[in-house]
Amino acid sequence: MTTRTLWNLKTARSSYVVSVGTDGRLENLHWGVPLSDEEADSLHTPTDFGIFPSSFSASSGDEVSSRDGRDLRTPSLDFTFPDGSRVVNLKFAEAQADGDTLSLVMTDVRREIDVILTYDIFPEQDVIRRGCRIVNRSSDTVRLSAVSGVDLKLPRRAKRITYLPGRWAADPQLAQTPLIDGITQLEGRGGFTGHRSKPWFAVDDGTANETFGEVWSASLMWSGSWKLAVERTTVEELHAQLGIHEDGLLVDLAPGESMDAPNVVLTYSAAGFGGVSDNWHDFVRDEVLRSSEPRPVLFNSWEAHMFDVNESTQLELAQRAAEIGCELFVVDDGWFRGRNDEHGGLGDWYHDPRKFPAGLLPLSRRVHSLGMKFGLWVEPEMVSPRSDLFREHPDWIYTAGGETPVEMRGQLVLDLGRAEVRRHIRQTLERLITDNELDYLKWDFNRPITVAGDAARSGGVVVRDHVRHLYEVLDEIREKFPHLLIEGCAGGGARADYGMLSHTDLVWPTDNTDPLDRIELQRAFSFAFPANVTSSWVTGSPSLLNGRVSSLEFRFHVAMCGVLGVGDDITLWDDADLELARRMVGLYKRNRDLVQNGRLSRLFLSEDSSAVQYNDHAATRAIVFAFAHGRAFGRRIENLRLRNLMPNAWYRTNDGRRYSGRMLASVGLPVDLTGDLASTVIEVYQEGLVSGIDG
Ligand code: DGJ
Repeated sequence: MTTRTLWNLKTARSSYVVSVGTDGRLENLHWGVPLSDEEADSLHTPTDFGIFPSSFSASSGDEVSSRDGRDLRTPSLDFTFPDGSRVVNLKFAEAQADGDTLSLVMTDVRREIDVILTYDIFPEQDVIRRGCRIVNRSSDTVRLSAVSGVDLKLPRRAKRITYLPGRWAADPQLAQTPLIDGITQLEGRGGFTGHRSKPWFAVDDGTANETFGEVWSASLMWSGSWKLAVERTTVEELHAQLGIHEDGLLVDLAPGESMDAPNVVLTYSAAGFGGVSDNWHDFVRDEVLRSSEPRPVLFNSWEAHMFDVNESTQLELAQRAAEIGCELFVVDDGWFRGRNDEHGGLGDWYHDPRKFPAGLLPLSRRVHSLGMKFGLWVEPEMVSPRSDLFREHPDWIYTAGGETPVEMRGQLVLDLGRAEVRRHIRQTLERLITDNELDYLKWDFNRPITVAGDAARSGGVVVRDHVRHLYEVLDEIREKFPHLLIEGCAGGGARADYGMLSHTDLVWPTDNTDPLDRIELQRAFSFAFPANVTSSWVTGSPSLLNGRVSSLEFRFHVAMCGVLGVGDDITLWDDADLELARRMVGLYKRNRDLVQNGRLSRLFLSEDSSAVQYNDHAATRAIVFAFAHGRAFGRRIENLRLRNLMPNAWYRTNDGRRYSGRMLASVGLPVDLTGDLASTVIEVYQEGLVSGIDG
């Protein structure tokens, strides 16, 4: 019989336990293995045992940290009241449970300030989404200078953090580093998520691997400046704060106003990093994306012709793209007035009459008649100083007082805080979509917001609001054109996050299209993101980025591990290339359900080779990609030990081999790969489905 107020939030394979402590504070007692209610009820806070009964022991288990005079953690909520006081003392007031949502209301003991924590449970995906709303019920304006709103208590035994850092054309990579005895911090500044790291992390005790060990992971559903701080406190407890970057942030909450901190999602798996990725993939596909309909095979003009696009070259490309089986044709940057390089045109979203004398509609119609969808690249939040839009509305950009705005890539950021700017962007896009019968937008963002806001709207609020307004515009466009797919992009993957994915359909994960680099980057990306949001193109050889030469087949195999696209000048491909491309696109389409919506297993990545597997959830089919990177010392690529198949079933490969599931898991599938940048694809079918095997 419990004498405490306690909630055991259960997913299929985890529990998250919150309780009201003796002093009315909300504290986390457990996040990890599933517990029965009876087990949850027997949990104790460390202080219950009198461990470290020192006067220097700061509290660390609270669900939010604040300046309550006892908590020495960096406050996740930082208030300043009109009388100068910064102290809050939040005590549990009431709970509301509604289906899979729990709301816990805390109220300050002295002032009429509520903090409402919400917990949405996604049992199947093992995910909990935490939210935090701050409500000012008082008659004073209250200032907030930190609004993370979410503190996560992590197990003390977690010693290592896994995260996804990067930089332009090298994003994201996978990094693992020991947690320091202090604060380990990651962040993104400049009003966008940034290349520097994804707002995603995982911790473990240092022994977890792909299939083994406990892993705790969390991510922020937000595309603006952000901060993650994982702190080991003076009592050796570990906790993480994940939210809006508080640097310079000042939000004034007027009487009656409230503010929501960005949501944080968290998942736990006892099955290693693969288990955590499974949870994230399911969550993104089922709960973040609007739909998991198959993403089309795309052609994109960027690496083929850069800014030098015109009607005749695009028509030629479209013809070829249709011939090899592409389902979507996208004209990237360069199609609009004044856009011949990076320094002009943004904002003037009208076709360049020199490049497209009859407009874009004839091209769009031709593309449609070839059986493909049609899309355009846009960068709607930006303006070039060399544009009509800027000449007409020089005041539509973010400025700081009288400061001269700083150009980056020759462009400035539009002030989305102005309703007329948002209206203009919306109407411009609506016109473009309608007039040109668009099915797809690639929505880019190529510079940070470094000078933001006039004096009246300063204090970081502009940067926060930019993201909210961006989401609002995206949602309005999607509502008006439900058929339209939107690919999020920011100089590659600098806005790849679950926030953006809630308002788009897929992302361009990196500007690096070199296939060997991509193996590693896509692998890192897959820790947090499923393949159906991972746009991936076959581009030219040598690679534009690093000059590396690779075969067309190798490039296809790498690109087929995400949403396949082609981004090379295919008018230069010879018959053999085109024939190979047709075969590859056919192979991809036949297995697209597995790659995009199946279960991924990162089989291995070693110095000289790697392999990934995708299978259906019923384990009746799999497709396996193996890559030899650079062969050293005549080493053979190791057998591919497949995962998630049925041990007692028999399977056949498309090249006629037959193995039991047990053998595939233990002995593995031998592959013969020699030479540098060699690759192979193997389709695996459970017997009984053998008639579906091609060749
Ligand atoms: C950056 C993107 O990441 C590229 O794919 C391309 O669209 C360019 N912008 C165009 O300017």
